[in-house]
Amino acid sequence: MPYFHTQTNHSYMSIRKSQFFLDWRTQPKNFKLYPHFQIRFKIDDFEALKDLNLIGGITFEKQFPQGKYYLRTNPTAGGLFPCEIYLQIRGVQGIISGIYHYEPMSATICLIHEIDSDGVEHYFPNQNKQQGIIFLISSVYFRSSWKYRDRAIRYILLDSGHALGAIYAAMCVRGEESTINFDFDKLTLNSIFGMRDDEMLMVSLQNTNQQSTLAQNIKLQFPYVAGCDFLETNHFIEEAYQKSAIFHDQLIQKISFFDGMNSTELKNAILSRRSIRAFKKLSITKEEFDFIVKDIFDFAKNHSIDIFYTLHNVDELDQGLYKNGTLQKKGYYSGKSKYLSLEQNLGGDSCVTFYFTSKEIEKYQKVTILSGFLAHIIYLKSEIKSIGCSGIGAYYDEDTKEFLNTKNNILYLLAIGR
Ligand SMILES: Cc1cc2nc3c(=O)[nH]c(=O)nc-3n(C[C@H](O)[C@H](O)[C@H](O)COP(=O)(O)O)c2cc1C
Repeated sequence: MPYFHTQTNHSYMSIRKSQFFLDWRTQPKNFKLYPHFQIRFKIDDFEALKDLNLIGGITFEKQFPQGKYYLRTNPTAGGLFPCEIYLQIRGVQGIISGIYHYEPMSATICLIHEIDSDGVEHYFPNQNKQQGIIFLISSVYFRSSWKYRDRAIRYILLDSGHALGAIYAAMCVRGEESTINFDFDKLTLNSIFGMRDDEMLMVSLQNTNQQSTLAQNIKLQFPYVAGCDFLETNHFIEEAYQKSAIFHDQLIQKISFFDGMNSTELKNAILSRRSIRAFKKLSITKEEFDFIVKDIFDFAKNHSIDIFYTLHNVDELDQGLYKNGTLQKKGYYSGKSKYLSLEQNLGGDSCVTFYFTSKEIEKYQKVTILSGFLAHIIYLKSEIKSIGCSGIGAYYDEDTKEFLNTKNNILYLLAIGR
């Protein structure tokens, strides 16, 4: 079992022993900005970049005395937004081929490095040039560890999964295919991108066609640009990331969660998605539930993820504890799910509370990121049906394992309902 997972377990006692005061005025900034003199392109000015802001753009803002507060297309643990998105664009009409950084605040992409014979593909197992867009998701961990301390290792992975889901959904709106790739030399690319140990690449999504020539290595070292205005180093997270970053894996292709869906409907769901704050304890229908979980359990099982759920309020379906779509034991476990999610009402007042789990050790990063990815699909499909949804990253680990009767690590909880 990855030591850093068990070492960041929550228990009834640990929660009560480790409470500390958090001064929100000290929150590190969560928008990375390259220097002002670098070239930027407004996404809306380019037909080839249509709907690209759906990958992580701002969809809500509110003015408070302390300043403005922004929410984006992706949910994020604690509202902290640790992720950044980079794009390598090659051979797309009207766009300089290069490596860009996405800046959600100004809805622009900022050119970091022009590419030609070189490219990030060189650090992928198959080094062939890819025509189109390669997205790379990174995490600036301190934005999350500022609040969550060592347990932030989990949230930066789950948040990366949501960012991945947001990019996948945006590509679906564009009617384009996505390939997810975990198997690339993240550590070397981190260094080329000028990231010090404070920012780390997590996963890539390719929206590309393969060319026949190989990409050369990138000879330039990009400048360091801080992702936060200050940093409190967390060696535990840095080491946990480095020890689990590299593993071999197949490409994940032909992902079909939104196939056949009207793209305007999907786009509207992306733009209106929010996390529900309280359920009214109304039911959802079996058809709605089936729509939301279609293909989810099969996808999860193919990648060593078991999804348990307590079903509390779905018309025509038995209340009980389920595993991967199969009833394990009948019963009304709303109170149990509320307790396990650190007594948050969301966990118990839901129609269904999902538990993403896995016994995978070597690919711990992958299964955690994919749990966030699948949760994101569930968020959007719930939104399409006007059903509320919320991620739950805070739960009692060992008590949950005991209740589910599993040795798997508990990676994430997710509640849906009305
Ligand atoms: C990994 C993760 C864990 C979360 N955990 C909780 C939680 O334990 N309790 C809760 O009320 N909301 C939780 N949320 C929801 C966030 O609070 C919410 O996404 C954030 O405030 C941004 O709001 P939005 O999703 O409406 O855009 C979580 C979200 C994520 C992605």
